[in-house]
Amino acid sequence: MVKRIAVLTSGGDAPGMNSAIRAVVRTAAFEGISCLGVKRGFVGLVNGDVMEMNPRSVDGINLKGGTMLYTARSPEFKTEEGLRKAAQTCKYLGIDGLVCIGGDGTFRGARDLSRYDVSTVAIPATIDNDIACTRYSIGFDTACNTAIEAIDKLRDTMQSHERCSVVEVMGRNSGSLAMYVGIACGASAILIPERETNFEELYERMRMARIQGRNHHIIIVAEGVGTANEVAQDIIEHTGVETRVTVLGHVQRGGSPTARDRVAATRMGVKAVNALLEGRTNRVICFKDKGIIDQDIIEALDMSHEFHQELYDVAIQVAR
Ligand code: F6P
Repeated sequence: MVKRIAVLTSGGDAPGMNSAIRAVVRTAAFEGISCLGVKRGFVGLVNGDVMEMNPRSVDGINLKGGTMLYTARSPEFKTEEGLRKAAQTCKYLGIDGLVCIGGDGTFRGARDLSRYDVSTVAIPATIDNDIACTRYSIGFDTACNTAIEAIDKLRDTMQSHERCSVVEVMGRNSGSLAMYVGIACGASAILIPERETNFEELYERMRMARIQGRNHHIIIVAEGVGTANEVAQDIIEHTGVETRVTVLGHVQRGGSPTARDRVAATRMGVKAVNALLEGRTNRVICFKDKGIIDQDIIEALDMSHEFHQELYDVAIQVAR
């Protein structure tokens, strides 16, 4: 019998986390169970730093970026001692189910807690969109749109000055964000960690473009490849094109979530609470082709990320 649940956000924040929190809190209220908010992710669980949540405490957060519960990366939680303390907090506070919102580090935290008899459900939220079990992670769409808005502005000035812009985007070890952003803003090349870049071909294309009367370029570099500065230096050396570097950085993690992220987060939040109430615990909520499902957390963490080859092929074919 589930009487009280708790919700936390952990790891790097992502736009839409607030919508997921709101959905968890409101679904709990709808079902007549109480809900606690854990501050600063697993750190708050280790320290017992929680607050009562009710439908009014989440009014208006749907449209706000970041996370009202704060987030953190906790080295202590990764130790057996930290896990034991976190599990004790759950027991002491009567938490029958815990919703953990975040990326794969958060998923691993939720899995480890389940070894200490804490019932968990995890929701994918990371701008990297690199979680193997789900086609979509909360925050990705907003981050793409934020990056595109900035790059469209960069294009104006690159075109005026006939320069090349090398733009570094986030994504950790994944090129997912870079590919979407690169295709959407019409990049001349997209450099991602999953595939080798043929630099000679790129330099040759840039030289040919100059002969054909085109002198401005946007080149997207996923952070997992290396730094935009290194790429820019090589471009200058091999093509002579005047080049500038922009590192978009943490701006990509902020901003009001898009409709896609608000709706995805809300659906996932509702699904997570329903899973707990139906006794399906130690699960993750995933977007699959057939819709939103919940999947065993160990199975989910064992999956390896499937590279989106079709998207990559598209990017290559239009980057002329
Ligand atoms: O996982 C999200 C992410 O923004 C990555 O894209 C990036 O590599 C990392 O977090 C940055 O982490 P931090 O905010 O700790 O610098």
